[in-house]
Amino acid sequence: MTEGGTGALPVEGVPAERVLAEIRALRAADRPTHGGRLFAYVYDPGVAGLDELARAAYAESAHVNGLDPTAFPSLLAMENALVGAAARLLGGGPGTSAPDVVGSVTGGGTESLILAVKAARDARPDLAEPRLVVPASGHAAFAKAAHYLRVALDTVPVDPVTLRPAVADVAAAIRPETVLVACSAPAYAHGVVDPVAEIAAVAAAVGVRCHVDACFGGWTLPWLRRLGEPVPAFDFAVDGVTSISVDLHKYAYAPKGVSVLLHRDAALRAPQYFGYADWPGYTMVNPVIASTRSGGPIAAAYATLRHLGEAGYLRLAALTRAAVSGLADAVRAVDGLRLLAEPESTVVCFTSDDPGLDLFVLVDELTARGWHTQPQLGYAGLPASVHLTVTAAVAPRVAEFGPALAGAAAAARAAGPVALPPELRALAASLAPEALTPELIAGLAAGLGLGAGPAPDRMAAVHTLLDAAPVRLRERLLVEFVGLLQRPTW
Ligand SMILES: Cc1ncc(COP(=O)(O)O)c(C=O)c1O
Repeated sequence: MTEGGTGALPVEGVPAERVLAEIRALRAADRPTHGGRLFAYVYDPGVAGLDELARAAYAESAHVNGLDPTAFPSLLAMENALVGAAARLLGGGPGTSAPDVVGSVTGGGTESLILAVKAARDARPDLAEPRLVVPASGHAAFAKAAHYLRVALDTVPVDPVTLRPAVADVAAAIRPETVLVACSAPAYAHGVVDPVAEIAAVAAAVGVRCHVDACFGGWTLPWLRRLGEPVPAFDFAVDGVTSISVDLHKYAYAPKGVSVLLHRDAALRAPQYFGYADWPGYTMVNPVIASTRSGGPIAAAYATLRHLGEAGYLRLAALTRAAVSGLADAVRAVDGLRLLAEPESTVVCFTSDDPGLDLFVLVDELTARGWHTQPQLGYAGLPASVHLTVTAAVAPRVAEFGPALAGAAAAARAAGPVALPPELRALAASLAPEALTPELIAGLAAGLGLGAGPAPDRMAAVHTLLDAAPVRLRERLLVEFVGLLQRPTW
């Protein structure tokens, strides 16, 4: 890519047009971010002109630094406006039962969740070993927060049929050291909304904070409710809910890098902040994890919300919901496939009841047909499944999906399940993560076609191996495999 020099840095600078051509050439290998054929990672409203607007707004504020709101009042004004909009949508603000809601704009859902856990932890400095209660369906970011913040994680199992935790189990998991109880609206994997009101009530009864992770659904459920869908109470209208996260870079359709973390009042938010004056440099106060923050994502989100407005989001939610029903029908029409949950939000998730129809092979067959779905490994009694995050841009594609799914299923049946060599399967089932040596990892990766280059087109063998491994080994293998990809280019 470069003449002389190393990696991204040539000896002499490359002309702008050529640099852009390089990036476009690299981007050609990516999954399609637009067009409604990628059911994870991206959120596409399919609205003409919106990208251009967001891009222009992004560029306007890209070099503005959120580090100091007094130096850049434009950013503060846009952040406060985003927080106001999110709070209002989620049952807070003047005239509601939560008039004092405040919040912060963070860089993403994971950051919002880490900060919700940090605020709860730091509100209880008296506890030497703080704990966090999360249903097993909760996003992995809660585990990351617990890990980063040294908070013990108490996971509550979910029912294999309803995919929700029993409220009594949540109550039983709360201990004197519990600083936060979390739940999801909805949980990502299956799109199921937890019994938020009941969970918040058991947390409130013992004076513990309750966070609702609405990172995924916080910007869709309120519109779906307005459209007449039976959306249960999950926001600040529920008494015991003390904080809510909602990602604008998901269903608010803003470019990546924006989430909002809301607290019922400023006192609850206070321990989220980090202020520091005990050094010779500038006095530092950070509401979020990052210190220097680009204004780009915030301005782009502001432009997106202003441009779409309530009417736009309502229209997009209706399109999304129609797409969800169409996709669910397509799944129901294929023998051997079964919806894991009746879609109640914007996720379609299905599994296979037929051993001859291997889901991981099916995912590869869909990929080969230009449809990019997300495989989910079997976990704690739940079967492996295929996840579809559905956005408004899928609506015009739904009629094409049915035949593609049927064709992919027929091809997957004809190909048969992945046949891992029995010794490899036995190894996956029995190997202790500590026993993995660099040689073993290199051998496994080579056998699976994983290495320094792009991932193979067909990933069924990789998923089958991971599926056969216990959770800790899965984690270790994933870390090692991704580590193989992340190597400098010279
Ligand atoms: C429910 C939920 N919470 C948290 C997250 C994490 O968000 P992010 O990937 O923006 O860090 C996600 C992402 O999909 C999510 O669906």
